Amino acid sequence: MTEAGNDLVAVPERVRTGSPNPITSLDAWREAWIAAKDDPDAFWLREAKARLHWRREPSEGLRGGFHEIADGPIAFFADGELNVSESCLDQHLAPRGDKVAILWEADEPGEGRSLTYRALHQEVCRAAGALRSLGVQKGERVIIYMGMVPEAAIAMLACARLGAVHSVVFGGFSAEALRDRVRDCGAEVVITQDEGLRGGRTIPLKATCDEALLGEQGVRHVLCFQRTGAHVGWTAGRDVWWHEAMSEATPVEDAVVCAAEDPLFILYTSGSTGRPKGLCHTQAGYLTWTSWTHQTVFDLREDDVYACVADVGWITGHSYIVYGPLCNGATTLMFESTPSYPDAGRYWELCARHGVTIFYTAPTAIRALAAQGDAFVQAHDRSRLRVLGTVGEPINPEAWQWYFDVVGEGRCTIVDTWWQTETGGICITPIAPATPTRPGWATLPNPGIVPALMDEHGRPIVGPGEGRLCLSQPWPGMARTVWGDHERYVATYFATFPGYYFTGDGCRRDGAGYHLVTGRVDDVLNVAGHRIGTAEFEAVIVTVEAIAEAGVVGFPHPVKGQGVYAYVVLQPGAEPGPDLQALVNNVCRAQIGAHAKVDLLQIVPGLPKTRSGKVMRRILRKVAEGQPEALGDVSTLADPSVVEAIVAGAKSL
Ligand code: WTA
Repeated sequence: MTEAGNDLVAVPERVRTGSPNPITSLDAWREAWIAAKDDPDAFWLREAKARLHWRREPSEGLRGGFHEIADGPIAFFADGELNVSESCLDQHLAPRGDKVAILWEADEPGEGRSLTYRALHQEVCRAAGALRSLGVQKGERVIIYMGMVPEAAIAMLACARLGAVHSVVFGGFSAEALRDRVRDCGAEVVITQDEGLRGGRTIPLKATCDEALLGEQGVRHVLCFQRTGAHVGWTAGRDVWWHEAMSEATPVEDAVVCAAEDPLFILYTSGSTGRPKGLCHTQAGYLTWTSWTHQTVFDLREDDVYACVADVGWITGHSYIVYGPLCNGATTLMFESTPSYPDAGRYWELCARHGVTIFYTAPTAIRALAAQGDAFVQAHDRSRLRVLGTVGEPINPEAWQWYFDVVGEGRCTIVDTWWQTETGGICITPIAPATPTRPGWATLPNPGIVPALMDEHGRPIVGPGEGRLCLSQPWPGMARTVWGDHERYVATYFATFPGYYFTGDGCRRDGAGYHLVTGRVDDVLNVAGHRIGTAEFEAVIVTVEAIAEAGVVGFPHPVKGQGVYAYVVLQPGAEPGPDLQALVNNVCRAQIGAHAKVDLLQIVPGLPKTRSGKVMRRILRKVAEGQPEALGDVSTLADPSVVEAIVAGAKSL
């Protein structure tokens, strides 16, 4: 059993029974975990063959390992050939062609539409035809900059059908951020929409796209889906309406055959240094991993209505709205709105209306909704819910308990799923019918995942303890490289602990092998489930004229999990003006996106630096966390007096 005073929660009866899951007990989990660890080849080859539709079946499982990763990416099923869209669509036409594939809940409650597997297949074939008529070819990159409309998923699958590589850019990103990504991946086609719609407000996607592409010669075409009918700018010859291209298109019935390790998509994510990097996921391993984890972790059953309310602009949307669920023939919901529109009962109202059985969201939303009181939840029928998931950041036990007691009324199990953009899919998590849960704990590694906790000397900790979370062997869903920069991939993930993939997270493990991921131990912030590097913030903040230097750290935030605290040093003689923070936030919004916001800003005489000029972030962090008494030794600072000023002027919410 777990640590003394453990608070294990048994799997509720209705989750435990009647499941087709290969893993319905801890014994079954252990057996699968050992099998995947000892013989990943056989384990994953079997799963890949059973789950995917192959044009040419693979004969091998894993090729390569972490020790040789600098020489080239690892590979799974390397001699296999397939088209991912056939696994997600064509293979379901006979057994479940009339089953709803995508259930779209639009911004206004009750509005939306549903697409059966047959209808989705037709639209994807048409969209692939439209892209082909714009000259899109296998291997070419296509940027998708859209809101939560079914056409975003259709566009992704249409790229996959042509063997083109999509890169979805979250619709909240600014023109600058979009331009960087277009350039980095060398996209020649961008798919967008006139406007997004969220919480009754419009988002000018086409206008932002036009701004991003100003002077960009590389982009041949912009395909624009009409969502609101707003008037938008138009560049003749470049811009094409989605509906016109679709009506003229010749459907691509015959999908382009890809090698298992051809790239499927690129997704940009923040790291502790430099610009966002484009993580590259490949075809068959990614799909096997998302299919396996989606089925087992959430305990998918044929008549489930599955709702993941993330955005397709993030990895959660890729893996658990689109690829995993569709490969599994599930009914997957796409949600255009926000948890609080028109009121804080929206999630539960949509669960009631659609009969949702599996619901997946982020801790930040749970905390925000819990703060609104239970009545918003109780007003709606949640009797069909069976599995409740969370992802994106550590969930505090109070929020976990509220989700369990109030939303799930003790009848549902909670799967606290730990994973990352880089891991492609869920890595550490309860498996719904099998794993007793524990508030705040992500619990056990999935088959295929072999965690190691490293101590301060870089040695694996044996038994219970706390350290840096690494994964010690390759799994099918891992990102293979950073687009165009394999060296950066190796340096970022494999250099800190040679022979291991380093996650950047800290983690605790108890006597039963349960894991609690404590959060990032590098300079990456996780604000309301969005990853942003402190270096990204700092680079943008110093572009404000009055500011000479900036140091950004996170601090505990009651709703967002982490808030953003910026220490700024003014230029000599600069007058900051009455609202420097608003100015800073305008710049952050323009350069990064609407989700990048400084919560607290403090003007300081200097940053605490060592004599060699390195900023001692530990000091900035402690003050931001409201623990100035825990600063530790500051004697190595070049100018210890700045610390007094920093402590004296500390801000709080
Ligand atoms: C954090 C999101 C604790 C973690 C899928 C990780 C979590 C980062 C959890 C990845 C969890 C995600 N418990 N922390 N259940 N899930 N994280 O790439 O710090 O947007 O490294 O992927 O989120 O964020 P990303």
